[in-house]
Amino acid sequence: MENTRKKVYIETLGCQMNKSDTERMLGILSHFGYEPSDEDEAVFFIVNTCSIRKLSEDKAYSKLGVWGKMKKNKPHIKIAIAGCVAQQEKENLLKKFPYLDLVFGTHNIYELPELIKELETPAPDGSRKRICAIRDKAVPEKEFNIIRSKGINAWLPIMEGCNNFCTYCIVPYTRGRERSREVEIILNEAKKIISEGYKEITLLGQNVDSYGKDLEGKPTFAYLLSKLDKLEGNFRIRFTTSYPTDITDDVIETVKNADKICECFHIPMQSGNDRVLKAMNRRYNRTQYTEIVNKIRTQIKDVTITSDFIAGFPSETEEEFNDTLSAIEELGLDYSNTAAYSPRPNTPAGRMTDKFIPSDIKKKRLAILNNIVKAASKKSNEASVGKIYEVLVEKIKEQDSKNGSKRIAEGRSRNNKVVHFESNTAQTGDFINVEIKEALVWCLKGTEIRTESSNNKDKALQDSIV
Ligand code: SAH
Ligand code: SF4
Ligand code: F3S
Repeated sequence: MENTRKKVYIETLGCQMNKSDTERMLGILSHFGYEPSDEDEAVFFIVNTCSIRKLSEDKAYSKLGVWGKMKKNKPHIKIAIAGCVAQQEKENLLKKFPYLDLVFGTHNIYELPELIKELETPAPDGSRKRICAIRDKAVPEKEFNIIRSKGINAWLPIMEGCNNFCTYCIVPYTRGRERSREVEIILNEAKKIISEGYKEITLLGQNVDSYGKDLEGKPTFAYLLSKLDKLEGNFRIRFTTSYPTDITDDVIETVKNADKICECFHIPMQSGNDRVLKAMNRRYNRTQYTEIVNKIRTQIKDVTITSDFIAGFPSETEEEFNDTLSAIEELGLDYSNTAAYSPRPNTPAGRMTDKFIPSDIKKKRLAILNNIVKAASKKSNEASVGKIYEVLVEKIKEQDSKNGSKRIAEGRSRNNKVVHFESNTAQTGDFINVEIKEALVWCLKGTEIRTESSNNKDKALQDSIV
């Protein structure tokens, strides 16, 4: 039988939350005659955008440009923009990009069926329909398929939105106020993910520690973690992102005692200087951040702590920037994402135009910052040499060498270190114990020590395997 399903292509930019939204969009569209395809075959194109920095926004526009050109030869295709740039720019986008057919925001995903129907129904006068659908508040979610990307990891959003309003950040404007999903909905989704064979679940939220504050009975993030940890199956749980001072003792305790929750925390610090932190409207100072890191490190063995930093926030002096560098070294942060400050529309920092740092200085600071991050990562990796890690295999690669080709397995340890090892038998999705032999800057190399392992912390081996 001929496949009459229409083809949709979604280009996803930005964070994991966007990746997860794309999987939901594909699922919704699958109920209405669409299936995912590559760009060549698609008749419906969506760019799911990110607005965190000007550069991410520009990426969205250049994608639209490519599709706009394509539409000259294929006038029947429909082009849509979704995500954070859509939420931020709204109908301006229809004016700016004449070939654009649909703009829909982060709160409009569940309206996709109606929007498409509307787009596909010819206008009475035969004119081309162009739609902009932006809500300023989320509507309750509906139950649809989810078409997840293949692999070992599945994204599972637990809360969305942010109430923090850091002065540089666009997210509270593009994602709205914090909303948590019900415990039962999350547990059911997790069970489904496990039954589909995924080996890792990453819980997503702009601030996972705010989980449950808006729900009846106020279930905490620690409670949710402990419920997920008790689900049957051989799988791992990760979560991101944690706001430094919102991490509770209960969460630390839960991670410490859990079987499936991996020992890593992503805790963006943003700056190592107290004045800058205040100007950023971050609700902690360097000492408080240090206390949290130390608390986690003392409680949880071999935990990985990663962070985010911004270089060249408006008014940041050279000395203040140096405090960021010293913080990374002093705290022994294992890895950090970095970015040069990028002014965002309608944010308080974006209005501090007289305090902006010239872009050549920002670039210089970013380069220095990246070198410090690189050194910190190497140092952290060196501390892993000699340890035995349980690695969940994500990929198998053939590598050419002088003596023929080698089969290399690549995966991650519980504490989120990328590990490569030679193996003739390892398969994607296997949990394999690996002894670490060599530390590179961004990854570790090791040798397989046995082919089977239980994911759940094996009590007898707990002292040697992390
Ligand atoms: N919710 C997380 C961060 C989400 S945004 C938290 O509270 O930390 C991801 C990262 O992008 C931030 O941690 C920050 O380092 C960076 N970022 C956000 N806005 C930025 C801007 N205007 N310029 C440069 N980097 C920015
Ligand atoms: Fe942005 Fe701050 Fe919210 Fe993180 S906590 S999403 S940086 S406003
Ligand atoms: Fe970007 Fe929106 Fe995520 S701005 S980082 S896609 S929440």
